[in-house]
Amino acid sequence: MTAVPKQAKIAALFKQAVVIPVLTIEKLEHAVPLAKALVAGGVRTLEVTLRTDAAVAAAKAIIAEVPDAIVGIGTILNPDDLSRAIALGAKFGISPGLTPELLKAAAASDLPFAPGIATASELMAALAAGFDTLKFFPAEQAGGIKALRALAGPFPNVRFCPTGGIGEANAATWLAEPNVLCVGGSWLCPAADIRSGNWAGITAICNSAMKSLKRP
Ligand code: 3PG
Repeated sequence: MTAVPKQAKIAALFKQAVVIPVLTIEKLEHAVPLAKALVAGGVRTLEVTLRTDAAVAAAKAIIAEVPDAIVGIGTILNPDDLSRAIALGAKFGISPGLTPELLKAAAASDLPFAPGIATASELMAALAAGFDTLKFFPAEQAGGIKALRALAGPFPNVRFCPTGGIGEANAATWLAEPNVLCVGGSWLCPAADIRSGNWAGITAICNSAMKSLKRP
């Protein structure tokens, strides 16, 4: 199949999300209370990264026990990770970068997928594989908003979820860019709050973010 319908799906998912927390879940027992805390703060679209041993079980638990969460899988580095995300029933997949193997596997699958890019050449590789909704990573470190604006010149139809170095202070500025659908980041769920089980604190961060960033 072509990547086209999936692109519409992931663009719609990103747009309604506004913000996507990047979750690194170290312990399975954190997964469900963390997801519930995020959802309680109005943040429903979650990226569970495959960075920890607990990640797959954590995503599975959230999908089973937090039906209001829209669970995607992040840090997809290769076709095996992509298969893992599909087997879990993820609603979308995100990668920090791209390889020809990953693009080929993602283009052949039904999973709405946003490959990561930081340069014009990577963007062209993604476009050539049928992907026009991309993660811009690491957003601040790879040139920030100036870099994203420069990419909008030759690639006016590409839409982004910038991630990396984004937080409460600069999220609104990124979201004001016409080619930005949503922003991602770990600031909505600080590691210290997850470790200490400060779920109310995470809900408060999300409430505040959603209040200030909600589109009219
Ligand atoms: C990611 O994987 O997208 C980043 O680690 C998130 O970046 P941040 O921690 O700067 O938000």
